[in-house]
Amino acid sequence: MAAAAMLARRHPVQPALPLPLLLLLAVAPTVRARVTALIVFGDSTVDAGNNNAIPTVVRSNFPPYGRDFPGATGRFSNGRVATDFYSEALGLGRDFVPAYLDPDYGIQDFAIGVCFASAGSGLDVATSRVFRVIPLWKQVDMFREYKARLAAHLGAAEAHAVVAGAVYAVSIGTNDFIENYYALTTTRFLEFTVPEYTEYLVGLARAFLAELYGLGARRIGFTGLAAMGCLPLERARARALGTSGGCDERYNAAARAFNAALAGMVAELGGELPGAEIRVAEVYDFFEGVVRDPARHGFARADVGCCGTGTYETGYTCGAWAAAPGGTCPDADRYVFWDAVHPTERASRLVAEHLINTTFGRFE
Ligand SMILES: *[C@@H]1O[C@H](CO)[C@@H](O)[C@H](O)[C@H]1NC(C)=O
Repeated sequence: MAAAAMLARRHPVQPALPLPLLLLLAVAPTVRARVTALIVFGDSTVDAGNNNAIPTVVRSNFPPYGRDFPGATGRFSNGRVATDFYSEALGLGRDFVPAYLDPDYGIQDFAIGVCFASAGSGLDVATSRVFRVIPLWKQVDMFREYKARLAAHLGAAEAHAVVAGAVYAVSIGTNDFIENYYALTTTRFLEFTVPEYTEYLVGLARAFLAELYGLGARRIGFTGLAAMGCLPLERARARALGTSGGCDERYNAAARAFNAALAGMVAELGGELPGAEIRVAEVYDFFEGVVRDPARHGFARADVGCCGTGTYETGYTCGAWAAAPGGTCPDADRYVFWDAVHPTERASRLVAEHLINTTFGRFE
């Protein structure tokens, strides 16, 4: 006879907890303050089309982007991006987050969510200058303007409640390495070693988070860096240099070191800011797992993107394939990457689900 059954027989009516407490546990709902809005800062991983409104070459508001849904909005995907899925999961009544600079939307739409992100941007202002995109400080300025418009629209008290009850999603940092430091497009590689640059970036992230807090943000999820050495673009570059046929492990190590420093900073900062709930959305291990074993998640390819050759195209170079017969793969759901840098909608949804389970759905 199993020991548990014997124990049960010997103490047939003795629950492990006093009965009233048991009942309480059984009926207590998940206590969670209502999320009022989803407010997004970052780069192309979450840009919903802000770059359409500025003169930069970093854009994707043309086919084949948006091929599968919902048309070429300026999202770097065949469909939606991670934050669109967060909006849906948070029960905001909308399965996407509109771009602040999109003329089709107004303050009444932004009251439940808005995206200030700009493809090509970084924590380092020098990164945003490479392709003249919207620097992070300007994204914060747009947020200030948004708050004033929201107050005019809803009244001060209600606007305050929206800002305080919102979830903030930040996804930025990859470009500081792949478009700036390692790409040698600015002088940063002369000014800093990789560890020094990492520390510099994390200091910028800290200042940004403190500023957001000062503006009323409380629940903030900062997405860590993914295995950027496994982007098809970086694999192809490593292959061209003859160093490997796989991921560029130097880039991956930089991402892991950044994530560790970010986590340390966030833990410390969270303790200094009363009422703040700042979390790192840990994406590295999960996404690397998908890339290393795509079949386990129903993907056929993780080494190249769906668009064109899948090894260098992004933005206009991917757009050049739109009219070519077979210029994109027939079923993007079979690919982890849509272009040489950005995930397909299906991969974004998978990662978003993981981050909702671990971070964005867990704010109290
Ligand atoms: C997220 O949680 C749901 C519900 O527990 C589960 O079904 C799903 O597989 C999880 N997704 C990921 C990607 O972890």
